[in-house]
Parts: sequence; C-alpha cells; structure tokens
Amino acid sequence: MQFFIDTANIDEIREAASWGTVAGVTTNPSLVAKESRPHREIIEEISALIDGPISVETLSLDSLGMLKEAHEFATWSPNVVIKCPMTIEGLKATKQLSAEGIKTNVTLIFTANQALLAALAGATYVSPFVGRLDDIGQDGMALIQDIRTVFDQYYFETQILTASVRHPQHVLRAAQLGSDVATVPFKILKQLYSHPLTDSGIEKFLADWKKSGLSTDA
Ligand code: E4P
Repeated sequence: MQFFIDTANIDEIREAASWGTVAGVTTNPSLVAKESRPHREIIEEISALIDGPISVETLSLDSLGMLKEAHEFATWSPNVVIKCPMTIEGLKATKQLSAEGIKTNVTLIFTANQALLAALAGATYVSPFVGRLDDIGQDGMALIQDIRTVFDQYYFETQILTASVRHPQHVLRAAQLGSDVATVPFKILKQLYSHPLTDSGIEKFLADWKKSGLSTDA
C-alpha cells in the first residue's frame, strides 16, 4: 500500500517528503482554503517537492465546468490528478478525462455501488471516505472491503485510495484489506512512526552504553 499525504500545507509536505515514505498528495477545497494562498502557487510548490500524483479538486457542479477546470489544472504540473465529485456530472467529466488520458480521482465515495460506477467511468482512483462514515455510525472500513471484493471480481485497474483517515487503526485496516493507497493527514502519518517502547528502548540502550564507559567511535 502506498501512502499519500492529505494536506495542502507546504511545510507538512516538505517535512513528510524528507521521511521518504510519501508517494503522493491529496488536496481538497477545504484543505486549500486553509492555506489562504493562490491555488496554482500551492500546487506548483507541491509538485517541486513530490514526484508522485497530486490530486486537485474541481469546484464546478456541471461536467463542462469541471472539464474546463481540469484542463487548466493539468497545465500546472504533469503530476496533477483531477478530483471530481461522485455525481452524475462528475462521472461524465471522469469518462471524458479518462478518454483524454488525464488521470482522475472520484471523491466523496460512500458506497461500493458508487465505486463501481466510478471504475466503469474509467477513474484512476476512487476515494472512499472512511472517517466520515464512522462519524455517522457506519463502518467505514467495511466499505473498503466491499470495494476490494467488487474490483477484484472484475479485475478493475481503478485504485482504492482510502481517504478521511482519522487514526492509525484506519491505516492498518486499509493495508490489511488491500487498499492500494491511504491518504493520511500529517499528524497521523507522524504517529505511525512512534511507539513509547521504541523511545524508552533507545533511552535504555544509550544509558547502558554511557554507563559502560565505551567509546562511540567504531
Ligand atoms: C482526501 O482526498 C479527502 O478529501 C480527505 O481525506 C477528507 O478527509 P476529512 O473527512 O477528514 O475531511
């Protein structure tokens, strides 16, 4: 499973990129709005930091508007993936972009039927929002399992991008269930690296070494 980082914050992306595990970036209108900077400038800066796919979301509600935005976004970086919402208009735009060879990410997926439709429209990625399903008392990870089953049944190449990740257990379950990608907020990505026993283990090793009086030279 690949990790994408779910943010439009350049400092977070720069830091996470230096850790060597981030393969791509996802943004959405809320994340971009938080940065209070021109959209294009943000995406171009991300593109200088990350070699992999960068999802950029359209704002129009009609397919023609989405296509116009998509064609503009695609000039910002060769790595741009166009995010369209899971609506009839969004799937019309996805189908057209796919025919043009432009990569797409169908977002706001909440059922396996929606994921199936997006795959049939030629989506490169589908983004099921597990955290938002959990928020309303449904089982977000069960959706990942259902989509995996359907996609495997028909050999769809569309990748499952687990989104709306809220904690490390979502990440582990996504990996266990065969999600192709998990897009993870910076704070949670950082949590994945840590364990208190790792920290106390390092402290103990260093304390024992110091007590021994041995040199640190090889
Ligand atoms: C990413 O593609 C999604 O837009 C994002 O993961 C949504 O996360 P949220 O439900 O925490 O806003």
